[in-house]
Amino acid sequence: MNKKIKVESPGRINLIGEHVDYNGGSVLPGAIDKKVEFIIENIDGDNCFIESKTIDKKFEFKFASLEKSDEHWHNYILGTVNYLINKKNQKISAFSCKIDSILPIGAGISSSSALISGLASGLIEINNLKIDKSEIVDIVSDVEHNYIGLKGGIMDQFTILNGKKNKLIHLECHSRNFKYVNAEFNDYQLILLNTNVEHNLANTAYNDRVEECNHALELINEKYNNKFSSLCEVELNIVERFKTILDKKIFNRASFVVNENIRTHIASKKLNEFKLIELGNLMYQSHKGLKNLYEVSCKELDFLVELTKPHNQIIGSRMMGGGFGGCTINLIHKKFKNEFIEKASKIYLKNFGIDLTAIEINICDGIKIKNLQTD
Ligand code: GLA
Repeated sequence: MNKKIKVESPGRINLIGEHVDYNGGSVLPGAIDKKVEFIIENIDGDNCFIESKTIDKKFEFKFASLEKSDEHWHNYILGTVNYLINKKNQKISAFSCKIDSILPIGAGISSSSALISGLASGLIEINNLKIDKSEIVDIVSDVEHNYIGLKGGIMDQFTILNGKKNKLIHLECHSRNFKYVNAEFNDYQLILLNTNVEHNLANTAYNDRVEECNHALELINEKYNNKFSSLCEVELNIVERFKTILDKKIFNRASFVVNENIRTHIASKKLNEFKLIELGNLMYQSHKGLKNLYEVSCKELDFLVELTKPHNQIIGSRMMGGGFGGCTINLIHKKFKNEFIEKASKIYLKNFGIDLTAIEINICDGIKIKNLQTD
């Protein structure tokens, strides 16, 4: 039976809780109304046809040759298919897939996970496979780790799959327990400001952070009889005891992670209580830690965050996502939004010679699949 479907796979924002997902901590993300769209259809024969309208490229492949490719973007597709066939032993039919995206690439809003999650969900649907959302989270991680080379956590794909309109997800990444929190900001609005820079080495530096955190955990566990299964389980006072024992850089990483996790818990509570000013302060603290202790920011991101500080119509701002470029996330008064965007764009262009892009977002549902035809 041939099926033709449309899959809409959203990007995500993260209000707070950065670089804690792979440390077993809590995050506060939401899916957004900027999406990757796929038309996927199963077809006869052995060849699969992929076309990306976004980058205006095509390629085809057979299930017999799913090795990693030198063409980076092919790996998102090949890795996903390889996982289903060779790791999960699923039978899938040849397919064609047309991809169209309005998610900016490299902006820290997870175009990469949206692509893999959307394709995996689509292939599961057209082949009637029995694979649940939690397993899709693992598929995406595996593809990102082994085909894309980013040793990321589960925040992005979990959000893309479980997003809910007007709700953020308070997700505990270690247990995968989660609850929805109202994303209501009264007179304020979430605006992303895209630096439009993506510093290279971002993947390498990201993976270095993962290793540094694992190293910190190992050293702490050596003294605590392997008590902790993730860095975010370590209490702050215990981390503090390691200040003179750990190498300064490793201590800073661990200290940031444990504090950021605490901030996420407080932020979730503040959002529930509508204490938006306090929530905004936590966003600024998060940025400070990401810049000084975790060292994943860059001059363009820092510049944009600094720019918000003199304005009391802006109550929170910080870099978002993996870092080294991409977007800041800002909580701005609706009436001040246009004036600020205009001002920020001018001064950013003057300083860096780069156009700034403001992205207005709404929090929306996760992946949606629509049947277009069955015969
Ligand atoms: C990237 C990764 C996520 C997460 C963030 C930082 O988006 O894919 O898993 O680690 O960076 O919070």
